[in-house]
Amino acid sequence: MKLSIVPNVVWPRLSEFIADKMGLHFSPERYADLERGLAGAAEEFGFGDAGACADWLLTEPLTKAQLRALASHLTVGETYFFREKRTFEVLAESVLPQLMRLRRNSGRRLRLWSAACCTGEEPFSLAILLHQFIPDLADWHVMILATDINERFLQKAAAGFFGKWSFRESPPWFKQRYFRLAGDGRYEILPEIKKMVTFANLNLVEDNYPALATDTNAMDVIFCRNVLMYFTLPQAVKAVRNLRCALVDDGWLAVSPCEASQTLFSRFAPANFPGAILYQKSDAKIQTAPSWTPLVLTDSTPLAAPSPEWPVTLTSEKSEEEPAATAASPTPVAIAASLYERGHYAEAVDTLLTSIAKCDGPDAQPFSLLARALANQGKLADALSWCDRWIGADKLDAFGHYLRAVVLQELGDHEQSRRSLQRAIYLHPEFVLAHFALGNLARSCGRNDTADKHFSNASRLLAACPADDVLPESDGLTVGRLTEIISSITALGIAP
Ligand SMILES: C[S@@+](CC[C@H](N)C(=O)[O-])C[C@H]1O[C@@H](n2cnc3c(N)ncnc32)[C@H](O)[C@@H]1O
Repeated sequence: MKLSIVPNVVWPRLSEFIADKMGLHFSPERYADLERGLAGAAEEFGFGDAGACADWLLTEPLTKAQLRALASHLTVGETYFFREKRTFEVLAESVLPQLMRLRRNSGRRLRLWSAACCTGEEPFSLAILLHQFIPDLADWHVMILATDINERFLQKAAAGFFGKWSFRESPPWFKQRYFRLAGDGRYEILPEIKKMVTFANLNLVEDNYPALATDTNAMDVIFCRNVLMYFTLPQAVKAVRNLRCALVDDGWLAVSPCEASQTLFSRFAPANFPGAILYQKSDAKIQTAPSWTPLVLTDSTPLAAPSPEWPVTLTSEKSEEEPAATAASPTPVAIAASLYERGHYAEAVDTLLTSIAKCDGPDAQPFSLLARALANQGKLADALSWCDRWIGADKLDAFGHYLRAVVLQELGDHEQSRRSLQRAIYLHPEFVLAHFALGNLARSCGRNDTADKHFSNASRLLAACPADDVLPESDGLTVGRLTEIISSITALGIAP
């Protein structure tokens, strides 16, 4: 296919459209890559030529499924086990020991997220590292979430088969210890490692996160490597801001060394190790405008620190500012609600706790906000006791029982969690997220038939709602998105 089939004026519009929908930056130097991706998409969408496909993309609203199909033609699938292995070494030598000391006597929970996991090598490397590093792993509640925008990559990841090229940087013992040779010459990851990782589709620039409903909250460590460098600056800023909210206080963000940027990560404290850089969530305020140059090279190109620096005004950080003072001073609950909306959970909790005496009374709102903000930070025992106060103040609020169930599930109390969910559904039979959570719970206990029943209840309720409606209690999850999540879980046969 020739570039000329698509009129020249269309390329910048297409590039802008793609940046908007999936963050990816296609500069004029990369129009040839865009052309190749567009040719594949045109074929998949049934267009005779790329020009017609481009017109359609720019004029018709895309469904999420179509967007994901398009993404599968435009994303780079380069990855391998223990890529940039210094980052994994630093995790094992410095970050994990610290986390384990903190958690050993308080819940033994560890939550990791590979936030552009590609075909699975990165999250499985994390799982193997934990398996090697934590002798009493069975006594810990470990969750490794692995997400990507590309459904094909996710399907490959969830299948767990890998070719030799994925092992290009790993020693022979690694393959022998954690994989078995499949008939076709590929290597299959052992079931005990496979079951440690939960795969899900997530678009880093469009989907809402963190959210309790999608388990994208209270992460201890997030790996988001070799993806931000393909994003435009505003989309990288947006993703980094959301990822920061998804971390617990003092949580860690690992990016590729070539993605290091003092300004993009200015609300993190950088921890420089030889050959690796990790960012720790901190409360430092943004001091400088960011500098960021998305790479225009392919993933196989030797990587260097982005240069030259590109100073721009960081307009999208505006929402970090405190709300403008208004004539009537807002109540502590209103301030806390605004802090919560912007992901400042610790500050929301502080605001509420200092004013809780004034909030005591029949109003359940401060309790619900406290419970939510604490749950989002992974402070589960505290979240649970505020759920109980919330329910004490309003026994008929299905949302209180739902949040209690989510927290109990995280704490490993499946039976109590199930009861709270049933109570929520009794009070509000059309509460989709509660049906969905019951499905997840049943699936995590290996009761797949029961899970399918709950998922189909949720799907039936979803089918009756407009796709763009935001679901109550979901932190922004839409009807359409949850429909896709459920079909992805059932189609991939993956643990939720
Ligand atoms: C080069 S791979 C990096 C894989 C892995 N993190 C690593 O470092 O080896 C980039 C991944 O980012 C994913 N990706 C691109 N845009 C994305 C988006 N908007 N949301 C989520 N994932 C995205 C691609 O599908 C691809 O799997």
